Amino acid sequence: MAPMTSIRLSGDKIEIVNQLLLPHTTEFIEIQTIEQAHDAIKSMKIRGAPAIASLAALSFGAYLSRGLEASPAPEYLASPEALRDHVLPILDFLITARPTAVNLGAATRRLTKTLQSSIDAGKDPRSIVLVLIAESHLVADEDVGRNKEMSKWGGEWLIDQVKQAGGDGTSLNVLTVCNTGSLATSGYGTALGLITYLHEVGNLGKAYYTQTAPYHQGSRLTALELKTLQIPSVMICDTMVGSLFQHHKIHAVAVGADRVAKNGDTANKIGTYNAAVLAARHKIPFIVVAPISTVDLDVADGSGIPIEHRPPLEACIVRGALHPPTLNAQGQKEQAQVMITPTDLYEIYNPSFDVTPAELITAIVTEKGVAVKKEGSQIFDLSAIV
Ligand code: MRU
Repeated sequence: MAPMTSIRLSGDKIEIVNQLLLPHTTEFIEIQTIEQAHDAIKSMKIRGAPAIASLAALSFGAYLSRGLEASPAPEYLASPEALRDHVLPILDFLITARPTAVNLGAATRRLTKTLQSSIDAGKDPRSIVLVLIAESHLVADEDVGRNKEMSKWGGEWLIDQVKQAGGDGTSLNVLTVCNTGSLATSGYGTALGLITYLHEVGNLGKAYYTQTAPYHQGSRLTALELKTLQIPSVMICDTMVGSLFQHHKIHAVAVGADRVAKNGDTANKIGTYNAAVLAARHKIPFIVVAPISTVDLDVADGSGIPIEHRPPLEACIVRGALHPPTLNAQGQKEQAQVMITPTDLYEIYNPSFDVTPAELITAIVTEKGVAVKKEGSQIFDLSAIV
């Protein structure tokens, strides 16, 4: 079966799969405006650090493309300065959709840089717009290739580590958290890409994944991707990681990242830190798999990473299809949101991400290779690889 997809492009038409309805309903929504892109990211119809950066870039490109075709021409095409004054607030607005994933900011910074260098090169507004459109497509297109690179680096590194420890490097069991596959990226995935790579080369035993409450990216999305790819896998509840490590041979934990600080401290989906602490206790390698664009050298350590807190209500609700299934007018399984708490709780703590200290991370894998800490050091020096 073909891998899942988060964004579908035909010409300037952008569609995303509404991930709030997965796994039971596959509904594509057209994104026609910057505001719709912003809303889709904020409301988590599309999520995953690389995927939201791709959508932001593509919606920006499509906006500019519509401007080029408009008649009369928009005023911002009158001069390079008018263009800059018009588009910079749009890029600033896109960044505000979600604060933790640095990829969004990296994409908009990259487009800002492209804009400025085109202005400095003396290009006319229409040529600048064409360069920006091409760059916005590059942000999305280059994701798949680098995901495959990092997945191979990480997969081969793990096989090697297991062999060095006396194993044969086959039947490797890997736990992951959240969803880092095709739905979270432009394709193939990061941590789930590493698992996919191990499966493709015949070295995977089973993929284990946590449900990842409260949004259930694991049980709704990773489960669906692993089924689609026919990868042998086991779902566990978030509370079962310790038990899993006590009773099953797990060779590694592989997770994605929303932002990696200069010292290697890593923000990722809530629950990642729990898994890292338990992995350290059980001496299981803990691997972060993420593109270079997720590394933020401006942030020295994890204390500087902004952590998004989602609306409290989201922690009181589970989403899914009714069970037993009831079909709606379109013949699809009826979606439900079910409240699992009393209403009006006193207080709800609902951070969307946590920070795993570098000390607990064995390796950080990017498209450039595998970074490990220097002998005796508790932190990474990522400035060397970015
Ligand atoms: O809130 P989400 O679903 O956007 O969180 C996603 C994650 O935490 C992923 O692990 C991360 O973005 C990396 S996706 C390749």
